[in-house]
Amino acid sequence: MLRTVGAFPSSVAATTERYRGDAERLEARRRAYLDPAFLASLPARAGLSPGDRVLDLGTGGGFLARALARSIPLRVTGLDLDAGALAWAARAVADEGHRWMDHVQGDATRLPVKPGRFDAVVCLTLLCVVPDPAAVVRAAREALKPGGRFLAIEWSGVGSFSDPADREHEVLAREAAAAWVRGFDAAHGARHHLGGDVPALALDAALDDVRVGGHLAVFSPADRSRPLADRVEAVRNERAEIGPSLERRLSTGGMPEERIARYVAKRSAALDALLADPTEARFARAAWVQTLPMTVVSAKR
Ligand SMILES: C[S@@+](CC[C@H](N)C(=O)[O-])C[C@H]1O[C@@H](n2cnc3c(N)ncnc32)[C@H](O)[C@@H]1O
Repeated sequence: MLRTVGAFPSSVAATTERYRGDAERLEARRRAYLDPAFLASLPARAGLSPGDRVLDLGTGGGFLARALARSIPLRVTGLDLDAGALAWAARAVADEGHRWMDHVQGDATRLPVKPGRFDAVVCLTLLCVVPDPAAVVRAAREALKPGGRFLAIEWSGVGSFSDPADREHEVLAREAAAAWVRGFDAAHGARHHLGGDVPALALDAALDDVRVGGHLAVFSPADRSRPLADRVEAVRNERAEIGPSLERRLSTGGMPEERIARYVAKRSAALDALLADPTEARFARAAWVQTLPMTVVSAKR
């Protein structure tokens, strides 16, 4: 069910537009990078019990909401600005057969929900895209019942993804990763590597019992512990991201045009070579690894 609440100012509409269509790409990424044992640990970190009411802020395609509900029966509301992502999430919920999940279109800094209603408020990589993450954490606190828990999972770094056997690609990929983050921050007016700030944001919002942990999200095409189909999809995603919008982002992040062109050529050729033979035998020989450190913070109202 999709409930649409309120009209949004034009800045909010612009953010919505930016995320349209991203849900599918993010879903494949999350599947490839976030390991199942980590996901299974999240209900305990959020202090959840069966039947609890959970609000997933910036739910996007609902990856976190569905991961939680797979571990433990919950009533989950996914909230996002983007109606396109929510429609996608609602379809995924129906496909997976989750019964107690609904979706609300709204702004996480001004929550269209009754105060004190939720046992837990969670978010996955939302704070890194909002200009005022403190306002989100304050709003999350308002939405919590006394004793309820806030859980946030945010990036605290980004690794490059390249072929260690090719020194030039490696150097270009590091440079591109740093430029990409600067471009991301400029585009969103936010901070990608926000993870380390979340404990302070929680304390500033008058949350208590702050617990801080970490997770190293790792993606390797050779990682046989993940289904081959997920790894192939993740590599296809990497390939699909090469284009004018990536080049604009790297340029905004200060990477010189000729370095961008060299990087794009190297990366496209390397990914195409891998995708030309999407078999376990070929993927097992790919020595590429991407590491994405995340900070996991939970705190109590
Ligand atoms: C990086 S995506 C993360 C999506 C999902 N949590 C995941 O990790 O797969 C950020 C999401 O936050 C949403 N978003 C951005 N600003 C928001 C706001 N002020 N209120 C609610 N959602 C917002 C975007 O539409 C997008 O779906």
